[in-house]
Amino acid sequence: MAVTTSEFVREMAETGPAPMKRVTPLPVIVIGNGPSGICLSYFLSGYRPYFKESSIHPNPILQRKLEENLGISIIEQDLEFLSEGLEGRSHNPVAVLFDSLLRPNADFGVSMDSVISWRREHDHYIPHLVLGKGPLGGVWHSIEGSMVTLSLGDWMQLPDLPFRDWMRAKRRCLRNDRAMTADIAHYYQHYTKAKGLQENFACGTVVTSVRRVSPSPDEEKQTCVSMDNMAGAQASRQSHRTSLFEVKGYSERKDGSEMPFCINAENVVLATGTYDSPAWLEVEGEDLPFVHHTTSELEEALKAQETGVNFDPILIVGGGLTAADAVISAHHSNAPVIHVFRRGVNDPDLIFNQLPKVMCPEYHKVHQMMAQQSCTATGPYEGYLSLPKHTVLCFTPDRKCILQDMTSGERRTFNISVALVLIGSNPNLTFLPDQGRSLAVNTELPVNCKRNPVDVDCYTYECGQERGLYALGPLVGDNFVRFLQGGALAVTSALLKDRHGAQHKIHSRPLFS
Ligand SMILES: Cc1cc2nc3c(=O)[nH]c(=O)nc-3n(C[C@H](O)[C@H](O)[C@H](O)COP(=O)(O)OP(=O)(O)OC[C@H]3O[C@@H](n4cnc5c(N)ncnc54)[C@H](O)[C@@H]3O)c2cc1C
Ligand SMILES: *[C@@H]1O[C@H](CO)[C@@H](O)[C@H](O)[C@H]1NC(C)=O
Ligand SMILES: *[C@@H]1O[C@H](CO)[C@@H](O)[C@H](O)[C@H]1NC(C)=O
Repeated sequence: MAVTTSEFVREMAETGPAPMKRVTPLPVIVIGNGPSGICLSYFLSGYRPYFKESSIHPNPILQRKLEENLGISIIEQDLEFLSEGLEGRSHNPVAVLFDSLLRPNADFGVSMDSVISWRREHDHYIPHLVLGKGPLGGVWHSIEGSMVTLSLGDWMQLPDLPFRDWMRAKRRCLRNDRAMTADIAHYYQHYTKAKGLQENFACGTVVTSVRRVSPSPDEEKQTCVSMDNMAGAQASRQSHRTSLFEVKGYSERKDGSEMPFCINAENVVLATGTYDSPAWLEVEGEDLPFVHHTTSELEEALKAQETGVNFDPILIVGGGLTAADAVISAHHSNAPVIHVFRRGVNDPDLIFNQLPKVMCPEYHKVHQMMAQQSCTATGPYEGYLSLPKHTVLCFTPDRKCILQDMTSGERRTFNISVALVLIGSNPNLTFLPDQGRSLAVNTELPVNCKRNPVDVDCYTYECGQERGLYALGPLVGDNFVRFLQGGALAVTSALLKDRHGAQHKIHSRPLFS
């Protein structure tokens, strides 16, 4: 009798009050229930991509490689061989490969059909459990609901369920081909249901610790038994695994109380995203009650403006898209805004200088505002003042902010009603030893999606420092939903190869033989 995930969840619920009690180890635990966790659950549930026989990929070399192994799922093929030579807007080759199979030539503004067809093969199901703090969909539940997302709606979709069709069925229309974040969040929930993945998810569950443990002799036997059942006789060769991961945390009961759990797993996948802890400026007064670090406080601030509680401007700190979104919202409500950021308006590293103008008219407009009303509030955009190349020195309890011009060193003091510090965010990996630093590319610094991602093998997404531990999504630099899907493919492919042993690896013939 195979251990299914639902039995597992039940077992977890039963053993809940006795947190130290060990249960049968699960092959895979995924931490994080956003797009990465959902997409990985899709693959682990036995959905497998095949090259659609009659389709033509615009890249002739890739086309030849795909034709060579017709009838064999991409997931069983040599991902390194397939992704060789492809280029795209991710540093991870499998991310580029999979994106190019699902959206050929997408970066040339062409909308071509996917060359992939999907089959669900139940015998490839790998029991797994996806744990996540909030509702299904990850960060999309906390991004302001009406905000328009940057990517085209299609780029937010997960495999084999077109976003457009779902929107049409819901009778919602796409504005400028882009989608509202609330729609995206609903789409992910719908996706999980439509693909029959729900039973693998335990939402409202917070992981507080992951560490390695050696299995007791008893448990070792149990591991082998469950492995045997799941993948047939071959899996018994798996007994090389000498230790397990112990995953601890709590789930939130309806009455608000916390129920602790402790599960052992052979593999753990980190899919926590990198948005849990907003970054701080680390300046004096930043913990004052009128200084906020998320956009969710903006609405209240705008209400206070409207009702005349406080007419002083809203200070928005940050030169990225989140800050730009806040500027757009505040400007729409006619609230006075002071916008402070460190870069110059023409700095090539400023995101607005990298965005195609036609695709992102709102952001283009913010960029214009930033440039035209720099250091002056007079101009077409009433009530808006931009201060490029300025830093915040401190906030004071009487609602003042002292800013410094980075070029001249000159200081200026402003009265403000509230401050929104929107300068990016960091992952919260406090559940790992050393807060996950030992897993990063640079182990001296905290993990950061832009500057210091988790160090993984680019074809398996397994952590260089820890066998059996995997990471995907923004944690490894795949910041867009489009690209994190290749990571999920790579992890699944690696787990399958690991289970079947090396003899099942497909040896690709060299292309020009
Ligand atoms: C404002 C904003 C706008 C964006 N716009 C776009 C866009 O236009 N296009 C695009 O492609 N991408 C966009 N992104 C990025 C996009 O959100 C990510 O690509 C995607 O959501 C990452 O998916 P994920 O599953 O890896 O992580 P997330 O969506 O962040 O989900 C991870 C989940 O895991 C949970 N978690 C973390 N730690 C634990 C723990 N210890 N226990 C339990 N659960 C935990 C987190 O709370 C979170 O809910 C945007 C992001 C932000 C913040
Ligand atoms: C990080 O997560 C832990 C739970 O694992 C929580 O207790 C802590 O408050 C979080 N820290 C931040 C800065 O969000
Ligand atoms: C700033 O606030 C102080 C009171 O704290 C007030 O005296 C001053 O006039 C204000 N300045 C401006 C420019 O509004």
